[in-house]
Amino acid sequence: MRRSSQDAGLGSTGESSVSPSETFVWGELVAHHAELAATTMGELFDRDPRRGSALSAKYDGLVLDYSKNLITERTVSLLMRLARERGLATGIEAMFGGARINTTEDRAVLHTALRSPAGETVLLDGVDVVRSVHDVLGRMSHLAEEIRSGRWCGATGRPVRTVVNIGIGGSDLGPAMTYHALREFAQDGVEARFVSNVDGHDIDRVLRGLDPATTLFVISSKTFTTVETLINARTARQWLVDRLGADAVGKHFVAVSTNADEVAAFGIDPANMFEFWDWVGGRYSVPSAIGLSLMIVIGSGQFRELLAGAHSIDSHFRMAPLEDNLPVLLGLLGIWHRNFCGAQALAVLPYDQRLALLPAYLQQLDMESNGKSVDRYGRAIAVDTAPILWGAPGTNGQHAFFQLLHQGTTIVPSDFIGVLEPAHSHRAHHDLLMANLFAQTRALAFGDLGNAGERPPHRSFAGDRPSNTILLPRLTPYTLGQLIALYEHKVFVQGWIWGVNSFDQWGVELGKKLATSIHDDLESDRAPSLDSSTNALMRRYRRVRRS
Ligand code: F6P
Repeated sequence: MRRSSQDAGLGSTGESSVSPSETFVWGELVAHHAELAATTMGELFDRDPRRGSALSAKYDGLVLDYSKNLITERTVSLLMRLARERGLATGIEAMFGGARINTTEDRAVLHTALRSPAGETVLLDGVDVVRSVHDVLGRMSHLAEEIRSGRWCGATGRPVRTVVNIGIGGSDLGPAMTYHALREFAQDGVEARFVSNVDGHDIDRVLRGLDPATTLFVISSKTFTTVETLINARTARQWLVDRLGADAVGKHFVAVSTNADEVAAFGIDPANMFEFWDWVGGRYSVPSAIGLSLMIVIGSGQFRELLAGAHSIDSHFRMAPLEDNLPVLLGLLGIWHRNFCGAQALAVLPYDQRLALLPAYLQQLDMESNGKSVDRYGRAIAVDTAPILWGAPGTNGQHAFFQLLHQGTTIVPSDFIGVLEPAHSHRAHHDLLMANLFAQTRALAFGDLGNAGERPPHRSFAGDRPSNTILLPRLTPYTLGQLIALYEHKVFVQGWIWGVNSFDQWGVELGKKLATSIHDDLESDRAPSLDSSTNALMRRYRRVRRS
């Protein structure tokens, strides 16, 4: 059954209760896609010499050029109708207004409040959360400045030189990605390191060569029950106690969490705990106290710039018309590729080595948020949801997997991200880097530019491979905050259109539960009684473990 926008069945927070494929415009989009099948990107550009600027959007220094997609202005207008029919504007207001849109956990979704300026009010159950946010920011800033100035000393009286963040998922990827991106802003002599994996090689490598007297561990865990983080934290504590004694722990361990009881049970003084809240999802948490290790190295002022950049995009997302709204455009283009063109993946290709960890960060953001197959009403979703997101920095990726992007049998829409002004003075390097970015998007879009007939098949390029280009003026805490918020809201747009709850992650629970019981079996003498494959693998491991 198809529905019109007058009969969209919007629920209390503006979500549509019908399947996206039952909307009236869905069928129009399917038909429109078929009409475009005979068109090439080359033709579309020939037809409209202004296409490059017509299909570009700008806001606060960010540029999104989406002209190199196989779309027309009609595609955009149909996608806008889809957004309206799905109640997107109401959904955006519901999120910013603190509605409990994370229904399976009965939680509000207010990471946007983390970057609200002091003095703004966001009420949750009658309490202004912005005030709490700024209280914690004030405490974080105090610690960061104490450490940076050398006033906070370790147990032996020496200043902190290395901050080790121990966390996983959102409690690692955000701080690690932003630290790698913003190292140019770090204070000389203070570095950060990151431990996430339960694999002991990870902590081994990070601790090797570290001086305990000048090391501060930041144990970052929203729940403070995540086994990987707790085992790494215990190993780090033992390492410190073995070298400096048990009394040193108070000066060398701080925690970031929502769970004060577990932090205290671990032995960290609650005075050294930096709080955040259940309305901040792990993958949305880098602007919260989870960003503490970043703040320590780049300073409180620069950290607040990151928040300001994110806030700028928050305001844009909330206020700008859908047609000019960067996250809305990016989200809807992704819907076009995934649901109407059948694309299974999305490549994120930052042409900036400082953004090397961005694809991994976005992988969690996108795939943990929208990698779902039931909707907000618990029904199977009839359409495809999150794409498989992957990527690597250019130009390295060009010499690895770009072959598939250009000539493979799978079309992978790509986001190319470029930075106009580098932070180095090697102009020739930057010119070459940017030339490669522009060349790749052209080659993907236009292929051999009409010379295909003159080339043997293995050297011909069909083109019509879609990409977006996102340009930042410079890579700074402010623009990185913008980029983070841009993708957060893009993911929101898509989740809302598909009707999924983008803010839970029940899919990771089963693996955790099974690992716990297998772990118990590995440590016991009991014969494993699982499937024949797992039993044999466990027996082999146990033989080696005991030898
Ligand atoms: O992998 C599931 C998950 O809950 C992520 O959503 C989260 O970012 C990560 O684990 C870490 O959780 P925590 O911060 O509670 O240790």
